Amino acid sequence: MLIASRMSKLIPVRLGSRSYTIHLGVGLLETLGALSRAGVRGRTCLVVSDGHVAPLYGERAAASLRAAGFTVSAAVVPPGEMSKSSAQLLALYDDAVRAGLDRAGCIVALGGGVVGDLAGFLAATYLRGVALVQAPTTLLAMVDSSVGGKTGINLPAGKNLVGAFHQPALVVADLETLQTLPAREGRAGLAEVVKYGAIRDAQLFQTLEACGGWLAQPWGTLAADERGRLAEIIARCCEIKADIVAGDEQEQSGLRTLLNFGHTFGHAVEQVAGYGTLLHGEAVAIGMALGARLATRQAGLPPAEADRLVGLLRGLGLPVAAQGLAWADLRAAMNVDKKAQERAPRWVLLRQLGAAVAGCVVPEADLEEVFRNENSKLEFRNKSQ
Ligand code: NAD
Ligand code: GLY
Repeated sequence: MLIASRMSKLIPVRLGSRSYTIHLGVGLLETLGALSRAGVRGRTCLVVSDGHVAPLYGERAAASLRAAGFTVSAAVVPPGEMSKSSAQLLALYDDAVRAGLDRAGCIVALGGGVVGDLAGFLAATYLRGVALVQAPTTLLAMVDSSVGGKTGINLPAGKNLVGAFHQPALVVADLETLQTLPAREGRAGLAEVVKYGAIRDAQLFQTLEACGGWLAQPWGTLAADERGRLAEIIARCCEIKADIVAGDEQEQSGLRTLLNFGHTFGHAVEQVAGYGTLLHGEAVAIGMALGARLATRQAGLPPAEADRLVGLLRGLGLPVAAQGLAWADLRAAMNVDKKAQERAPRWVLLRQLGAAVAGCVVPEADLEEVFRNENSKLEFRNKSQ
């Protein structure tokens, strides 16, 4: 059903007065305007996109918005993590002023997680907050970053160190945009998909294991039934995220923190390797692999389950070890992680596949030992891929 043109699955994110719907389906960019009109008060909008996505989908999105009565302006940022910067944000504020964006208008984030986080923070702060429409075009953004309201930019000292919670008014995820997504980006998005299975849904994890090699292939090469199955997997991830966010919107009870599985180490790897060297999802895959090894010692994760996680990640073509990075650099990077308290990183550890626990403090010596022993073993498996 989901892969028939303009059919969509509606997934509610239940947050009281900030509730909204995730629309997931094929051909939905054509209905972006009508859907936004129903969810946004005003009629001015600024579509923020990047240099890869704008030429592919910018006009389609703008035409749909214009047809629904919006006055549309566009801003295009360079593709890549470096755009999540204060300089880029300041330039976008000027674009918003030039666009005549008023308080009732909206920002449309058309792109991957970089555009979503950056444009989302713009929406959170411009005129003390305007409506945000998330139109994700990467797998990672569809299953994760477009949902839940985390927005922000990076500082030279670390990732996402400035940001705000700002829920979108709606999310419009057009699966058809995955047609042009580079294969490596698609695989990186699968890392976050694996994360949902690992922390919350053993059945989803088994489904991913059972999919075999086709799952890592580009959307454009998939058979119709495979697209349908992937669409259902994406929908399941959105449901899990919606459920977690509804239970702990601002990461206060520890529930939402579970979504950071693989990220404590992953963010450090991403930063030390140099933004853009590893994709975010690749860094998270490395973080999950090492985290699973840590969990066998610290949280009782059966070693065979850690092996299954590493095996699934490798099978999807994802890296599972931090290649050539020094422990001292990684450890220092972890100190500026948002989740660190008094310079001690807080870990999300798996107790078993499908069940995780947040807020774990791991003794320094154990941390270093796991890294030194396990990373080199995993490094070997990385190379033998
Ligand atoms: P991205 O936004 O950099 O997109 C990846 C690449 O794909 C870019 O080059 C982009 O131009 C290109 N692209 C996007 N859609 C395309 C399409 N349909 N066809 C062709 N090319 C396309 O990366 P991402 O993986 O989507 O997002 C990573 C970012 O998301 C990181 O900054 C990460 O911190 C953030 N993130 C945020 C949250 C959150 O909750 N806010 C969650 C997870 C990740
Ligand atoms: N991606 C982590 C979160 O949304 O909380």
